[in-house]
Amino acid sequence: MRIILMGPPGVGKGTEAEYLSQHFQIPHISTGNMFRAMFDDPDNKIGQIAKAYIGRGELVPDDITNELVLERLSEADVEKGFLFDGYPRNINQAEALDQMLEQFDWRLDAVINIIAPDEMIVDRLAGRRVCKVCGKIYHVTNRKPKVEGVCDRDGGKLIQRTDDMEETVMRRLRIYNSQTAPVIGYYQHSDAFYAIDGTGTIKNTNNAVMKALGEDK
Ligand code: AP5
Ligand code: ZN
Repeated sequence: MRIILMGPPGVGKGTEAEYLSQHFQIPHISTGNMFRAMFDDPDNKIGQIAKAYIGRGELVPDDITNELVLERLSEADVEKGFLFDGYPRNINQAEALDQMLEQFDWRLDAVINIIAPDEMIVDRLAGRRVCKVCGKIYHVTNRKPKVEGVCDRDGGKLIQRTDDMEETVMRRLRIYNSQTAPVIGYYQHSDAFYAIDGTGTIKNTNNAVMKALGEDK
């Protein structure tokens, strides 16, 4: 299965990706997570460049992002399929991905676009907490850990992402509308495109995605 998960920041892509990658046993490729994993190493040049862009809520330059994705697609585990979360994020990246798919002779099975209004997104991002160790995603009211501030999986500390500050969230939403939303038009006429309502609970969204993919039997 080769899947792209799209949608505005905070709509629930990462949350849904956790289920889908488990269900289909395919790697979850989040360019955001890949960049964040490089933040703590001061000698990692790409990590430090990405950190500056992400901190401002802006997209990391395409040449850096596309190169990172091409390297990731060259790893062995991707042969059984993959799930992109947060890539491609503009038309230039969508075209670059098309070239990569052609190079590997692969086609996409599903492009899933999750949608929810801005007010809901702002609330989801304000309450989001992530595990410093494993990256598992929580929410202070919608998806609470068993013990406040502590990851259920590994006891890691739950932190707030620096780009979840309200001002940065507004900038991310503006950039989403101007640069990422046009990517919907790039895919929406394909048979593999599915629009999913992301305004319900996490379970509702998951059920809608599974139904669209014919996996609800
Ligand atoms: P990235 O890490 O990709 O972030 P994003 O796209 O902004 O999306 P988020 O991770 O913020 O949200 P999500 O949709 O995954 O929501 P989540 O499941 O966590 O990118 C970050 C930055 O990296 C970018 O701004 C950019 O700078 C850079 N970057 C990354 N990729 C790039 C690229 N390709 N090119 C250039 N730059 C790139 O859910 C949010 C919260 O809501 C959670 O607390 C969750 O528990 C809760 N929640 C989820 N679903 C529901 C629900 N149905 N009901 C109630 N609560 C819910
Ligand atoms: Zn954890």
